[in-house]
Amino acid sequence: MLSQTRGYRDCLGRFPTGVALISLSDQGCARAMTVNSFVSVSLEPRLILWSLDNNCSHYSLFLSASHFAVNVLAYDQQGLSIACARNNNLEVSGAHWRIAANGAPLVDGAVAHFECTMRQTIPAGDHQIILGEVTGFDMPRDEASLAFVRSQYAGL
Ligand SMILES: Cc1cc2nc3c(=O)[nH]c(=O)nc-3n(C[C@H](O)[C@H](O)[C@H](O)COP(=O)(O)O)c2cc1C
Repeated sequence: MLSQTRGYRDCLGRFPTGVALISLSDQGCARAMTVNSFVSVSLEPRLILWSLDNNCSHYSLFLSASHFAVNVLAYDQQGLSIACARNNNLEVSGAHWRIAANGAPLVDGAVAHFECTMRQTIPAGDHQIILGEVTGFDMPRDEASLAFVRSQYAGL
């Protein structure tokens, strides 16, 4: 069963994705977690989703956020991706950021930012689908994006 689970994850890993940080403000503290489940859902209205692991230690924080941002990482931000998969304190992870109009931190060095308002959470197996409406976006850097494929990072 274990090897089937590993095999299934390996099979999914052959689909290359980008890497993003989901960021939010928590009582004055800037927090972020690394995800590769970010995807566009609808252009009009502008809806995006990402999925949150039910076992994430900061599950309640990210599930209950009224506002958040999606920071699409650049090829040279692998270290930040690794750091924010371990510790969701942006300062501890060595990031610099500014606060967006919606109150969420926008991480410096990202190739794209999406400011979002939480619209819906949908239970789906061992994850929650987080549906957000995009209220602002920008492309602060014209660089290659960070990719994740076969459990490894790559530049695109
Ligand atoms: C490349 C990559 C992609 C990830 N994608 C997701 C994701 O889409 N959803 C998720 O809940 N966790 C994802 N994670 C794991 C979270 O970053 C990690 O579990 C989170 O920071 C909380 O860690 P903790 O529960 O050990 O505190 C990903 C990790 C990496 C390295």
